[in-house]
Amino acid sequence: MVPTEAKVVEILKGINHPGSGKDIVTISMVRDLEVNDRNIRFSLDTGGRRDPFVKAVKIACEKTLRSAFGEGPGLEIDIVMDAPRQKTPPPVLAGVKNVIAVASGKGGVGKSTVAVNLAIALAKRGYDVGLLDADIFGPSVPKMLGAGDTRPRVRKEGDRSVIIPEKKYGVKFLSVGLFVPADNALIWRGPMATGALKQLIGDADWGELDYMIFDLPPGTSDIHLTLVQELPVTGAIIVSTPQDVALADVTKGVAMFRSEDISVPVLGLVENMAWFTPAELPENRYYIFGRDGCRKLAEKLDLPVLAQIPVVQGISEGGDKGLPVALEGNETAAAFTSLAEKVVEAVDIRNRTMEPTKKVEIKRK
Ligand SMILES: Nc1ncnc2c1ncn2[C@@H]1O[C@H](COP(=O)(O)OP(=O)(O)OP(=O)(O)O)[C@@H](O)[C@H]1O
Ligand SMILES: [Mg+2]
Repeated sequence: MVPTEAKVVEILKGINHPGSGKDIVTISMVRDLEVNDRNIRFSLDTGGRRDPFVKAVKIACEKTLRSAFGEGPGLEIDIVMDAPRQKTPPPVLAGVKNVIAVASGKGGVGKSTVAVNLAIALAKRGYDVGLLDADIFGPSVPKMLGAGDTRPRVRKEGDRSVIIPEKKYGVKFLSVGLFVPADNALIWRGPMATGALKQLIGDADWGELDYMIFDLPPGTSDIHLTLVQELPVTGAIIVSTPQDVALADVTKGVAMFRSEDISVPVLGLVENMAWFTPAELPENRYYIFGRDGCRKLAEKLDLPVLAQIPVVQGISEGGDKGLPVALEGNETAAAFTSLAEKVVEAVDIRNRTMEPTKKVEIKRK
């Protein structure tokens, strides 16, 4: 019989792991199988743990494969015990289809507001949505979702603790701020926050999600670097107000994501606080922070403007009260619904026209 991958797998399925009583294919012990003519090569992965049965399994594999494919000099069987873990790491957030980073050059332009309302607008359209607040200065997302004092629950799985995201308004969420004591000096807070971010990505049960949104701190920081190293980020959205000072920093933010080392596609800009309309003059728009700056900059950077969100009292009140405006049925909510539709479209185009993003590997010199 000529060895083929299918036949080898079938034969290995007949070998049980004495410890678990299940066959070694089902428990994912067989890794990196290569069948080349009469050369059979694979690894026996014990998950990085010491497995007293691995040697016995190896001997059983050799014996069974030899008797199936014939003794003799032509058959080469090479079984590597305990495949190095990093060779086939399980994908982080395997159930998450798209990771979206909401970023800005300047602080206070409305990232968290946009991230929260975008997440709700997507959930209202039936998508499974997660929101991770990566703000190291305080948990603004839980507060905006009206869940400021909620402590995330933890489930034990063997010796591993799995964090269970909270759910509000159809959005699963967690906040780095909840895992870092608020009064910690900034010098400690930064490294603690990057550690917490890694944990909230890797040790939380996010399940199946269509969109996972990250609300990032302003500018460029260790949090940004940690995110792109932990996960392949599908795309970034940059929020800005129309003021020159904010726009000047947009270019820097876009350049960071587009840099060769990071290579995260930018999906577009969101112009927040685009104009103000007084209640008594509903036809009037006052461009208090300037006009057309965002559109011109977007053209220069070859990016779409995904939304223009006006200054509306309901937006800040909704944030303060924990009742985001996207929950309502008014015109302001419609602006976020339209943003959600644009984001879905931009992600779809990105996925059809570009290669998946790769995680950033740390290069040691
Ligand atoms: N379009 C808007 N209309 C009215 N108020 C707004 C609007 N966008 C944001 N705000 C208010 O502006 C303040 C700052 O917004 P937000 O916290 O979302 O900004 P941020 O970019 O996340 O800030 P930081 O850089 O500190 O994380 C909040 O009080 C928010 O309610
Ligand atoms: Mg914020």
